[in-house]
Formats: sequence, C-alpha cells, structure tokens
Amino acid sequence: MHKARMVQRISLVPVEERLRAIAEAGYNTFLLRTKHVFLDMLTDSGVNAMSDNQFAGMISADDAYAGSMTFYEFAEAVEDVLGYKYVMNTHQGRAAEHLLTKVFAKSGDAIPTNYHFTTTKAHIELSGAACLEIYYDEALKTESSNQFKGNMDTNKLRKVIEKYGKDKVAFVRMEATTNLIGGQPFSMANLREIRQICDKHGIILVLDGSLICENAYLIRQREKGYENKTVAEIVREICGLADLYYMSGRKNTSVRGGMIATNNKQLFDKIRPWLPVYEGFYTYGGMSMREIGAMTVGLREMVDPAVAGCAVEQVKYFVGRLVETGIPVVTPPGGLACHLDAMKFLPHVSQSQYPAGSLAAALYISSGIRSMERGTVSMDRDREGKEVLADIELTRIAVPRRVYTISHIEYAVDRINWLHKHRDLIKGLKFVSEPPVLRFFDGRLEPIDDWGRILTKAFKGEIGDY
Ligand code: F0G
Repeated sequence: MHKARMVQRISLVPVEERLRAIAEAGYNTFLLRTKHVFLDMLTDSGVNAMSDNQFAGMISADDAYAGSMTFYEFAEAVEDVLGYKYVMNTHQGRAAEHLLTKVFAKSGDAIPTNYHFTTTKAHIELSGAACLEIYYDEALKTESSNQFKGNMDTNKLRKVIEKYGKDKVAFVRMEATTNLIGGQPFSMANLREIRQICDKHGIILVLDGSLICENAYLIRQREKGYENKTVAEIVREICGLADLYYMSGRKNTSVRGGMIATNNKQLFDKIRPWLPVYEGFYTYGGMSMREIGAMTVGLREMVDPAVAGCAVEQVKYFVGRLVETGIPVVTPPGGLACHLDAMKFLPHVSQSQYPAGSLAAALYISSGIRSMERGTVSMDRDREGKEVLADIELTRIAVPRRVYTISHIEYAVDRINWLHKHRDLIKGLKFVSEPPVLRFFDGRLEPIDDWGRILTKAFKGEIGDY
C-alpha cells in the first residue's frame, strides 16, 4: 500500500563484532549503537517511515513560539479524527502521563488499568498511587485463542471501586493494543461496560491511545458487528467513550510527540496551567512545530486501513511463520510486534536470571537484530528494594510501520529458528549496575558463565561470520 522512495543503508557486522558490541552495551540492547545493528526492531516508537505528505507538512509548518497556525490545523485534525474539541501537545506520551498523574493522582489513590506500560507505572508510583492491573486471567496466557486479551475484568474493577471507594480511584486507565502483554486489543463491548461502571461512580476514564489504530483495526477483524465499519469510525467510537485521551505520537502518527485531548473543558482546564511549567507554551507543548505539522498529516493518515493495518498484517505473518516450527510466541498475533515467550524458549533460565533479556542479547548475537526485553528487567524493584518478577517474560521484536519487508521478516524467522536449536547454550544474566527507576533503559548486565562467547563460537562454526 506504499512504495519506498527514500532508503537508508544498513549493514550486518561479523558475529565477533556483534559479541563485542553487546558486551560493551552491558548485554542491554538499548545501549547498542545503531552502527552495530542490522535490523532495528527494538521498538515501533519514533522510527516509523513518514509519508511524503508528512514531510511536506514539516516544511510548510508555521514556526512560531505562540499562536502558530500549524497548532490550530492540528487541533482541527484532532476534532475530525478523534472527535475531541480540546487538545494540548506534550513532548511525548510519558509527558502526558506526567501531567495526568500530577493533576489527578495522589498518595493512597488507586489507578486500575487493563495492564500497565512501563512509563505509566513509573508515573503512577511516583505520585504515590497504586497501579492495579485488572485483566482477565487469559491475558497472561501467551498461547491463547482469546481475541481480546486486552480486556479489563469488569468484576474485578467493581471490587476495586468497592474496596478503595470511588473517591480514591483517581481514574480508570484503558490502554489500546495493550503493549506489555503482547500488543493485545480490548473489545468495544468491554470498553462500553467500563464506561458504564465509571459513569455509575463518577470516575474519570482515561484512554491511552498510543496504539489506537491497531486496536480499531483488530476490532474490525474480530468483533461481531464491526466488520462493516471503517477504522476511522471505530476510532471515533472508542474515543467517544473516554473522558480523557492521551497518546504517544511516536507510534500511530509516525512522528515524535504526544498529546492530551478531551471534550471535558473542566478537566482540560485543570491540566492546562501545568503545560507551560513542564512542556512549553500552549500552542507547542514541548514539540517542534515541524513535528506538529507532520503529526497533523499523520493523524489523518493513521485511520487509513493501509496504515492502521500495516504492522498488524506483518506481525500476523511473522507469528504465523514461527508457529509453523513450534517457536513459543504470543498468540493471537497482536498489534506492534512479534513476542517470543522467553520462559518457554529458555525453560532452563530462571526468572531471576532474566530470560527475556538473555534471549534479546542472544538474538542480537546470532542475527544483528535488536529486540527489547519486556520481562523482569523492565520491572523496577518495589519500595523495599525487592526484585519484582514480571507476569510474563517476553522478548519483543517490534515491526516499525512501513520500514521492513517480508524478506527482513524471513531473515528474522530463519535466525530465530537457528537460535531455538541452540537454546541450551544460552544462560542467564546478572546486573552489574542498576538505576533506581526504569532500570531497563540504562542498566548494565553480564552473562552467567560467559555464554555469549560460547554461542558466538557455535555460530561461527556452523554459519560463519554473518
Ligand atoms: N503508552 C504506551 C502504550 C506506550 O507504548 C508508550 C511508549 C507510552 C505510553 C509512552 O510514550 O515513549 O512517547 O513517552 N512505548 C514505547 C515502546 C517506548 O517502545 O513501546 P513515549
């Protein structure tokens, strides 16, 4: 549904160099330099291919500190696509989370969510509130046929409200295409029920729409009654059910930025005074006008099924190819990445030795592909400093939008199969240095029993340098 008109050279460095690079990066794929990375599948955030019209939107942006017409064009696009009258930009998604928790959450509060995202949880906990995850048990089953693992368990939600009292529930948060459980969607029926519960108790419903288009695309494919609706209509319907909407613009709109939007002026007016304190003046909110210009176009483009579905369809192919050879992956395929189940892939590595981190490092050594740990390394220690084991250990191989082709995915499938055959060579990791918050970004680890070297030797013996 698109063609490539600008390309970027990538290269695969020899396996010995990959081993050196990952050792220098403290076995943390975040700390690799891109000159050592062949396929960058760390994330789908801020690395999607922009369209020609988005670039045009950057060039024609009205670069003013205050009152930029580009901002007002952006606000119009927000109203057209999402249906919200009030909007402010933030420099990215977590900045929106910062403002929302600063304004609405306080110590002792509870924030129920279908599942946390790393930055969301950090902001909720920094506010002193508790982040409560109230999913159906099925959500954590990596192999499943449940089409809506992103649903919130509404009975558990009622119990939370009863336990804390409605005044202590700062807000209910629903995340579209729930990232950390494998990019799994919620259903419209579930969201509607949550809306009713929030209405009954007068609780604010916050929607994290960073991945709203994939959720809408999957509702269209999977939920009865939505087969004939457009992605654009489904997006509007989802948005209509939330009081406050925020998103990272780095995913669906393929730029670098974020926003908070609503139709509730009272809520909006509570947040707005803090925007210039933390982000910037109202008409740029920490973003460059050029990015806002590209975001305006990106917003209108993101509901095109060719854009909303491009990652979903590649992920489906990727997951399907791995299932064929019995590789443990999250099913059904979700919206942003292919997720390896590291506990099943490496059953001999205990969770306290970070199997998902080991697998990400091993995949890099054997392929030059950069993936991301989404397991215990991505969990911070609790307030007493104790390790918190993740519910599931996933190695996420993201599919940035409009960047890679099926041939790249075939290469990944081939190398993952090789790695699976040699999985016994992969052992665990231990921390060498560990930041106190969001440790996965900057933490450094080392391999137990020098397994990186052993894996490299096996690779060289069978495959060679590349
Ligand atoms: N919410 C969700 C669901 C996200 O996936 C992200 C970021 C954020 C909030 C925070 O947004 O990065 O713009 O500050 N996800 C990226 C990822 C980092 O790799 O999945 P941000």
